[in-house]
Amino acid sequence: MPVTVRVVNSSHEELVSFVATKYRWFTDMAEEAGYDMPVSCCSGACTVCACRVLEWHDIVDPAAVSVPLLDVDDDQVLSCVGGVDETAIDSGEDRVIVLQSLL
Ligand code: FES
Repeated sequence: MPVTVRVVNSSHEELVSFVATKYRWFTDMAEEAGYDMPVSCCSGACTVCACRVLEWHDIVDPAAVSVPLLDVDDDQVLSCVGGVDETAIDSGEDRVIVLQSLL
């Protein structure tokens, strides 16, 4: 079973949903699914892409593709560098990560 990612807005309305793959960052997977998440630096050096992780924070890897250059709140992830922990994908357990866009 896959790890699915749902991106929602401040009203919890779904913006996009996709099945996560290893070694990819959230904004890239969302773009492939047809939704452009807000980005600026694309390198973890601003907070434009920051999302609050509403569900399954423990399987979000904040440095899936590169180490963020800024710290964010503990319940947030920079979606241009963060992704899903590869062990969670390998486990085959069905989980749905919910990211809330902050813009
Ligand atoms: S776009 Fe700047 S940190 Fe992600």
